[in-house]
Amino acid sequence: MDLHNYNIVFLNWQNFIKMKRYEFLRNFTYGLAAFSILPSMTYCKSGNGLNPNSGNSINESFNPDLDIELTAAQRNLQVFTGNKTEVYSYVSNILKAENSTVENLPGSWLGPVFRVKQGQKVRVRFKNQLPRESVIHWHGLHIPPKMDGHPMYAINNGKQYVYEFEVNNRPGTYWFHPHPDKITGPQVYRGLAGMFIVEDDENNLPAGQYDVPLIIQDRIFDDNNQLVYMQNNPMSQMQGFLGNRIVVNGNPENNLEVSKATYRFRVLNGSNSRIYKLAWSDGSDVIVIGTDGGLLPQPVRKPYLILGSGERVELWKDFSTSDTGKEVHLQSLSFNDGSSMGMGGGMMGGGMMGGSGPENGVGFDICTFTVTSQSGERKSLPSTFEAIKSIPESEAVNADSPRRFRFYNQRMQWVINGETFEMREVADWEKVKLNTTEIWEFINGDNGQGMGMMQNMMKMPHPVHLHGLQFQIIDRDVSGMSSDSWNTIKDGFVDEGWQDTFMLMPGMKVKIALRFKDYTGIYVYHCHNLEHEDMGMMRNYEVI
Ligand code: C2O
Ligand code: CU
Ligand code: CU
Repeated sequence: MDLHNYNIVFLNWQNFIKMKRYEFLRNFTYGLAAFSILPSMTYCKSGNGLNPNSGNSINESFNPDLDIELTAAQRNLQVFTGNKTEVYSYVSNILKAENSTVENLPGSWLGPVFRVKQGQKVRVRFKNQLPRESVIHWHGLHIPPKMDGHPMYAINNGKQYVYEFEVNNRPGTYWFHPHPDKITGPQVYRGLAGMFIVEDDENNLPAGQYDVPLIIQDRIFDDNNQLVYMQNNPMSQMQGFLGNRIVVNGNPENNLEVSKATYRFRVLNGSNSRIYKLAWSDGSDVIVIGTDGGLLPQPVRKPYLILGSGERVELWKDFSTSDTGKEVHLQSLSFNDGSSMGMGGGMMGGGMMGGSGPENGVGFDICTFTVTSQSGERKSLPSTFEAIKSIPESEAVNADSPRRFRFYNQRMQWVINGETFEMREVADWEKVKLNTTEIWEFINGDNGQGMGMMQNMMKMPHPVHLHGLQFQIIDRDVSGMSSDSWNTIKDGFVDEGWQDTFMLMPGMKVKIALRFKDYTGIYVYHCHNLEHEDMGMMRNYEVI
């Protein structure tokens, strides 16, 4: 498809794109240079404790149901007509697959879609053929630290790391992506990500061709069809990468054909830092059946849904009575994300940074579903799914004094309680005991006693993510938020299921309940705005 005739998705952005083209020409060379230079500059900042010979070898006594090779490599993909696009991809080679599938997405830069069952054993032989070190993180899975993809286990080019784990998560939509220290953003951006579905036995839900992953990402392509990452501009990194073009499932062809049938869409926000306010253009409710950690106790109807980077949501959508040719857009509506990036919010001015797309909160269409004449299976929406037992606050060892984690900006640096990531560092306030339940409180903002003006005025939403477990959200306190922002997003949160990632808007406080079980060791927690993560808005916690 010709890039320049492509105007389905960006109708609203037309003027913007015209304007951008100028900037592109001007910044084009910086853009490419920044891609390779920026990560290596930051890389040298501190020794990261990486052992170039590290790896993890096969455990012969582990008997996998699924055994695959997953190779991360650079390749050239025909994304548009004309020049091929240089991307990074995970390519799978199945050695054994019993009652599970690994489906490659041809024509896409995204990695495969795993479909496995609870209780199955998985072995992934990860081979790194990238120019830089990498590691695979299994986002949302409850697995031992050594299998989780902590940056300390990154391997260099030419090395292999063997992941072996049993799938003990609830059925649900999980995913995987690289997690090397300081260079997660560029690696995910170039194409490394895939979906990891733990299948359920719910036979009253749409299945097979009606159970569809929708991985939403934003990108910028230059006039030679090449991906453009960050401009070499500290403010861009401060904000996070924002693209000017939406890609769904690693393919900029965003027109998807659907049968007259009922669908289950497994939506993953795989963007580096863009937040979506999902809604249907036909005005129907967004029907949510699942969140990060699987199905909800019952479907939830929302006018729209806020989905931060790293989060998943499962949507129910019925096209069975739609007319042939009907078009329905999945949209991102406009909202106020409450951010301010400098003195009086002025630093970002008109809201666009050099070489980046529209700011968070600008509305646009994500993709278009066109109903074909084909008829398919019609399902009726179940009224309940498996109940979720809520974690009682009284079970927590710190119910009266939750641990507090403040996410804020300090001297042009995103921090957690004033700290940034150090490979193996764990503070006292980051150590928890195995087999305990805790309440953690996350606060977007400093404690008001900092060094004043500057840090207080730099505010952004942070999608907060913890590795190693699923938790429950028990309270979302918005009293510190600006109502101008809150009023535009207030109906978009689904907090009744299991989560591993949640949006922490400026001024918001979120309390979660967590149970630490099965594994001791070090996991990370971080902001899933990947540029914030790469800047160090990440810390370890240790289960002892
Ligand atoms: Cu999906 Cu540590 O991240
Ligand atoms: Cu994760
Ligand atoms: Cu952040």
